[in-house]
Amino acid sequence: MRKEILEKFLPLTFEEREELKKKKIKKHDIATIYLHWFNATVWFIELITGSALIISKYYKFTPHFWQKLWMEIFGTRANMLKFHIFTGVLWIIVLLIYAVFGYKNYLWGYFKNMLLLTKDDILWVYYKGMQILGKKVQLPPQGIYNGGQKLYAWDVAIGTILIAITGPIMAFHLGSVTLVRWAIAVHFLAVGLVLMGLFVHIYMAAFMPEERQSFFSMFTGYVNELYAYEHHYKWWREMVKEREKWLEEYKKEIEK
Ligand code: HEM
Repeated sequence: MRKEILEKFLPLTFEEREELKKKKIKKHDIATIYLHWFNATVWFIELITGSALIISKYYKFTPHFWQKLWMEIFGTRANMLKFHIFTGVLWIIVLLIYAVFGYKNYLWGYFKNMLLLTKDDILWVYYKGMQILGKKVQLPPQGIYNGGQKLYAWDVAIGTILIAITGPIMAFHLGSVTLVRWAIAVHFLAVGLVLMGLFVHIYMAAFMPEERQSFFSMFTGYVNELYAYEHHYKWWREMVKEREKWLEEYKKEIEK
């Protein structure tokens, strides 16, 4: 077994666990937290209005009462469509501002920490599946995000790009009739793609007791070290090494 896997599974004493619980490490920047909740709010608004806007002679995507409810709130279908488009355009503008101005500080971190899949991440997904099926297995150590979260990050990244391209084509008829028709199909499929992962994401993030720390980190930015040690061992080790290096340099500085 690899050294880092062995280290991770050395049992902690009660005192060590209590000590780790008291210490906090930063997981999310304030900009990431704001962007995440802005994104989640936009998703809920767009899902509600979008689902109520889909009306066809041949099938009903959402029940009649749902469409009637939102139509009455907005007054007319045209108003609801305008609101859906306005919110979508605002979402694209905010994402672009984040991407352009936060490229170095945030977007690069997104690529490095969330989209880059390592062998341990892929093994984690496999072993997690076995664990869900009731097998007793050890999960490989993970970085700041685990394999499942990284796959979801891919899902969101691809879905977001497709939605942000097809949305304006549909809303402002940018191109031929065929292109607009394709845009409608791709828009719909991309929303479905993100939605599939979103159910799992919300369940894992908001309802699983062992992920409570992760849930609150999306408000406070911090997790305790015991959670980091148990769920994101590679990241925890990196943070501890950085802290030790910083302390050594600090000691040298004051000894001068
Ligand atoms: C009520 C809805 C939501 C809740 C409660 C929620 C909760 C969370 C939490 C707690 C995290 C931090 C995970 C960690 O750092 O360990 C997170 C991360 C993230 N969220 Fe959400 N979220 C919601 C909606 C959304 C939506 C709508 C999207 C995008 C469509 C989204 C995309 C992401 C992504 C990409 C991450 C980083 C990777 C990950 O942790 O999976 N979230 N979310």
